[in-house]
Amino acid sequence: MAGKNDFAIGVFDSGLGGLTVVKELVRRLPNENIVYYGDTARVPYGSKSKETIVRFSLENVRVLLKNNVKLIVVACNSCSSYAMGTLKSKFKVPIIGVLVPGARKAAQVTAGNRIAVIATAATIASGKYPKAVMQFNKKARVVGQPCPLFVPLVEEGWHNRSIAAQVAKDYLKKVKRFRADTLILGCTHYPLLKRTLQRIVGPNVRLIDSAQVVANEAKRRLQAEGLTNRRKTKGRLTFLVSDKPQSFKRIARNFLGFDLGRVKQVKEN
Ligand code: DGL
Repeated sequence: MAGKNDFAIGVFDSGLGGLTVVKELVRRLPNENIVYYGDTARVPYGSKSKETIVRFSLENVRVLLKNNVKLIVVACNSCSSYAMGTLKSKFKVPIIGVLVPGARKAAQVTAGNRIAVIATAATIASGKYPKAVMQFNKKARVVGQPCPLFVPLVEEGWHNRSIAAQVAKDYLKKVKRFRADTLILGCTHYPLLKRTLQRIVGPNVRLIDSAQVVANEAKRRLQAEGLTNRRKTKGRLTFLVSDKPQSFKRIARNFLGFDLGRVKQVKEN
């Protein structure tokens, strides 16, 4: 019989963005089973209210819990900004978000204590990033810039087109004026734009990809809870979405570099 260690890591996001976290999880924890849920019927979250984002987060955790998960990764900064307290108080399963690990990393690596955060409008409005960075580095100065057009560009698979660079140039004006030495990609969709962003801010600005740091955090947490999968075989990946799977499948295949197999549409929400 499968024990708890054989259960999956559950990951959710509004759409494709959380796949940046899945990619890093697979790299670090190849034996783990992963269940990914993209709430594609309701993307984007970043333009919605706190109440809506909290409600969606609760529903997404319930979807994952129906699939035997032992740890949940909230692979969405908008949900991490508003819903972590509610989720942790309502569910027994260990839950980790993307915001604090990303903020901590930026606070540690900044060379001149000038940190910029780009994220959804909801995440920036929450003020959670500056707060979290200050907890780890009192000297840091933090500016935020909402980039609402990035998520639709990524969901459309347009992140490598010149239009994405044009939009990014505009959004990053404030970051450049501020002379940030560290730039937090405060939305899990944004690592798909990494090359473009790095080109615009220049090679001396350190980009913080929260997908990488949260994957490290997930590994640590599984070890700490004694929940690591001990099998030596490759883990199984399961993909769930809340709307028709075709375009998710196509863009996800390009990004992850392998075919996803069956992507199941769930009807719960
Ligand atoms: N990728 C998510 C985030 O990190 C959600 C983006 C959105 O749906 O607006 O905020």
